[in-house]
Amino acid sequence: MADMKALPDAERPKAGKAANKFKQSIAAAIDKALAAAAPAEKPKTQTVAFDPSVPGRRPVVGHRHPIAQMIDRIKDIFGRMGFTVAYGPEIELARNNFEALNIPADHPSQDAFDTFYFADDVVLRSQTSTVQIRVMENQKPPVRIIAPGKTYRPDTVDATHCFMFHQVEGLYVDEGVSMADLKAVLTMFAREFFWPEVTIRFRPHFFPFTEPSVEVDVSCALCAGKGCSVCSRKGWIEFGGAGMVDPNVFEVVGYDAEKYTGFAFGLGIDRLVMMKYGIDDIRRFFENDMRFLSQF
Ligand code: DAH
Repeated sequence: MADMKALPDAERPKAGKAANKFKQSIAAAIDKALAAAAPAEKPKTQTVAFDPSVPGRRPVVGHRHPIAQMIDRIKDIFGRMGFTVAYGPEIELARNNFEALNIPADHPSQDAFDTFYFADDVVLRSQTSTVQIRVMENQKPPVRIIAPGKTYRPDTVDATHCFMFHQVEGLYVDEGVSMADLKAVLTMFAREFFWPEVTIRFRPHFFPFTEPSVEVDVSCALCAGKGCSVCSRKGWIEFGGAGMVDPNVFEVVGYDAEKYTGFAFGLGIDRLVMMKYGIDDIRRFFENDMRFLSQF
């Protein structure tokens, strides 16, 4: 075929035709030889037996975070004592985080609650106590609520501190509410949440929005109050603050402090869960390590 260029013009068509014909005859002969050499039977296609009785492969299903599970448990326990659930925003007016809760701008107790500011008057709330103000400004007594949620503080992160953590606030206002009611409600809660033989104790303390104020301790679950490394040999672990609502707070929200009394409390949820399960480090909750989370 390549040499055809060398032929005189007149000869070329004839030679081309002959060459093509020869080429085709060779191709046909090759096809025939290949067909003859092929194995007689068809190649087997491989068949896979389908057994409908074999169990399927389970998809990996996640579950709720241990903190979220415990918030449900807390809602359930207080729900049975007649508390409904209220929510407030995490981005809050500074006024609801401080002034309305009887913490004046120049008061030293602002330091402990100091927080992240978006503007002069807008903060990330540093306590769920803000929800007390929101509820009372929108509702006449009686009030019986809990308010779980996230709170923020400029804390350096370590085994027991985090810049974000969870609290549950409680508020009960009616005629004739006393400290005995507060004690009864928190005792009932601790018995349900921890174990029936638990004891709690109140220590005098200061909070600007309650008067009198207390800190609440629960007897250590690990040593039953004898003293161990978890409770720093004290036999008790603090789990929240509480007190009788300060009349100044009632005045802010327009409640008659002569007629109504109330108690309030704020419990640290992360700490409650750590105590319940013997978890040694708050950071475990937020590291997203499946080896830890899948145990709950
Ligand atoms: N808000 C307080 C805190 O974050 C906790 C607290 C103490 C809440 C006493 C209360 C209370 O309602 O009565 O440390």
